[in-house]
Amino acid sequence: MTTGACYHEFIPIGREATRLIQHPAQRSARGRPRRQQYFFICVRSTRNIDEVSIVASSDHPPDHALATQLVHADRGIDTDSSVAPPIYPSVTYRADSAAQFREMATEPRHPRFYARYGTPTHARVEAVLAQIEGAQAGLLLASGMAAISCSALALLQAGDHVVAQRSHYMGTTQLVNGVLARFGVSATIVEQGDTDAFATAIGPQTKLILLESPSNPLLRLTDLEAVARLARSKGITTLADNTFATPVNQNPIALGIDLVVHSATKFLGGHHDLLAGAVMGPSALVERIWDMSIVLGCNLGAFETWLLLRGLRTLDLRVERQNATALQVARYLESHAAVAAVHYPGLETHPQHALARTQMRGFGGVLSFSLREGRGAALAFMPRLRLFTQAVSLGGIEALAMHAATTWSGTLSEEQTRAAGIDPGLIRISVGLEAPADLIADLDQALRG
Ligand SMILES: Cc1ncc(COP(=O)(O)O)c(C=O)c1O
Repeated sequence: MTTGACYHEFIPIGREATRLIQHPAQRSARGRPRRQQYFFICVRSTRNIDEVSIVASSDHPPDHALATQLVHADRGIDTDSSVAPPIYPSVTYRADSAAQFREMATEPRHPRFYARYGTPTHARVEAVLAQIEGAQAGLLLASGMAAISCSALALLQAGDHVVAQRSHYMGTTQLVNGVLARFGVSATIVEQGDTDAFATAIGPQTKLILLESPSNPLLRLTDLEAVARLARSKGITTLADNTFATPVNQNPIALGIDLVVHSATKFLGGHHDLLAGAVMGPSALVERIWDMSIVLGCNLGAFETWLLLRGLRTLDLRVERQNATALQVARYLESHAAVAAVHYPGLETHPQHALARTQMRGFGGVLSFSLREGRGAALAFMPRLRLFTQAVSLGGIEALAMHAATTWSGTLSEEQTRAAGIDPGLIRISVGLEAPADLIADLDQALRG
């Protein structure tokens, strides 16, 4: 057996795991092994119990509420006496013996070997991300697109087939139609609201189903549980982009999805000041993606990793507030005569509101709406906004707005934009932490002209 296989896993405390927690740091106050609890631990071997040693561990059980997990899920990893986590700018780490160097070089995801492989701060953030998504393991990457691309490249090879949605973040659409196609991976694009369409699209070579719910920018939903069930029955991996919902509002893994990705640039970071991505899922799959990430070199830098952890601590507070504000803003827009349609799953008029209620706990801080008078009205409306900043991205503390068709005019033709369901009057907004009444007043004056 290889003793070099390091993995992160939730281990239910049973007979086998009781032996695992003979480690002094994991014993109860009375020195007895703990029972009926879960620990997030990193061990070196799954097979030879005698060779197990705990190399990094969080002593935080994952049965706390999300708000507590965000603050404590990395506790016990990389312990020193500092209360705030340290940053590790060092690219490389000293070994004190040949044996230690060998261990650092051969142990997958060793947090103290070479920064492209990870750092102790990465291990902390990944522990938090894994716990809040209910996953065995997490991996940080340089951006949301790095997380999606790296996962796809790790899981697919020439001759494979993927199923993807018509409404995706444009980068994902470009990955599927451009990059993957160039490397011999074919794709079928389906309407995400139609679960039967996924079943029809699956073929013998289908290896991956790419999902995004709610999707950017149309806030369309996918029945994650139904698609996950279908994929499992055929042995196909599912990967869901949970950027818009956030783990505060939705946990795809609990619905049966295999892998969850995030543009952590958005709500997870939350301050429009860092670019980051993450993928969470079963240890074995995440380790495959990590293998690919060290070849592609798309890992996250030390400072962004630390900044992301700082942002994560307040995710719950921020998203709860953004959920409430977005719903108020959506209701206001829906009542306005100049607005033809509002896309927000929290509205009773959203065609998939019932599904939203079953798979989401809140509906997020992003919505889009179409102006009745189309492109001209949208282009006139944008510069009249005073509190909303005209900018791309979303999920931060300040409200942003963008005209969707203009945003993608550099990469997509008008025809492709329409095919993606984006009409010329569509505006996407992301609410920040401003008072809802002030944001509504800003929209109101901009709509009045
Ligand atoms: C839903 C979604 N997924 C992925 C991405 C890509 O993320 P990043 O810009 O961090 O690469 C975005 C960016 O807007 C997004 O909205």
